[in-house]
Amino acid sequence: MTTTAGTQVVHARAPGKINVFLKVGAVMEDGYHDLATAFQAVSLSEEVRAYPATDFSVEFTGSIDTSGLATGGSNLAIKAARALARQAGYRGGVHLEIEKNVPIAGGMGGGSADAAATLLACDALWGTNATKEELLAIGAQLGADVPFAFTGGTAIGTGRGDQLSPALAKGKFQWVLALAEFGMSTPAVYQELDRHRDRHAQDIFPAEVQPTVDAKVLLALRAGDPHMLADVLHNDLQAPALHLAPGLGSVIQLGEENGALAGIISGSGPTVAFLVADADSALELQVALSASRLRVVRATGPVHGARLIND
Ligand code: C5P
Repeated sequence: MTTTAGTQVVHARAPGKINVFLKVGAVMEDGYHDLATAFQAVSLSEEVRAYPATDFSVEFTGSIDTSGLATGGSNLAIKAARALARQAGYRGGVHLEIEKNVPIAGGMGGGSADAAATLLACDALWGTNATKEELLAIGAQLGADVPFAFTGGTAIGTGRGDQLSPALAKGKFQWVLALAEFGMSTPAVYQELDRHRDRHAQDIFPAEVQPTVDAKVLLALRAGDPHMLADVLHNDLQAPALHLAPGLGSVIQLGEENGALAGIISGSGPTVAFLVADADSALELQVALSASRLRVVRATGPVHGARLIND
């Protein structure tokens, strides 16, 4: 905890993610889909600062346009803070200041990172001393991707995507991200996948088949080899996302024509993540995509999960 001119503040950081592999199985009883995914945390982070307050509030800072974001009770960070207070029997509140760097509604888990960093920051600010397991359990109730924003690194997610097991990974992978001017709703993309599977009986994922992560993905991550990983990048949500936003197809094509090893829709989209061989190729691709008036940022992965920062 830092004390600046008499003001207590706790700073926590949590990363965005790319699903380098995502297989969607059958719909489960709770309405969620059974998943098998490989997550990689990347170097675009949400910075959450928590200040003591009697009520719960949030404000956003940073260069990203946050005007469309909810700041009331439906905001995931506020939900996270309230959930921890409830569980710990804490009677006060918190004022949250969130600097957003992960694209909003972009399929990179920015809202989930806000929630993970908020849980960590409030726990430290309030001295509630929750265990990591308790924070992970609260996180899993807030959203399927929140536990991964906590643990970070490289991990396999099953169930809703919240049952995590760490995966071995070597080195750093270089990503170039093409950001869209619009956001996409995750439920809408899953619904589009369901509609497609209903329409094309041959594509229906048999309920008894458990989705699994291709062993070649684990090998590529363990080898730290971008060429190997590029060959096995896969996302079952890509087809429905492209159906809802067909223009993203030409973005993927443009990147692959300009040096990307492969391009993939990140999570439920619309961010397109390009895997490149090295930092030089990343720069060249960034220049080429920017010349086509796309908003582009670079990131590397894997990076740490949520943690407290001493300013
Ligand atoms: O848990 P989260 O709020 O991130 O999920 C958003 C939506 O995405 C869910 O309400 C559900 O429609 C869909 N989803 C799903 N199966 C998953 C994860 C998400 O159907 N495993």
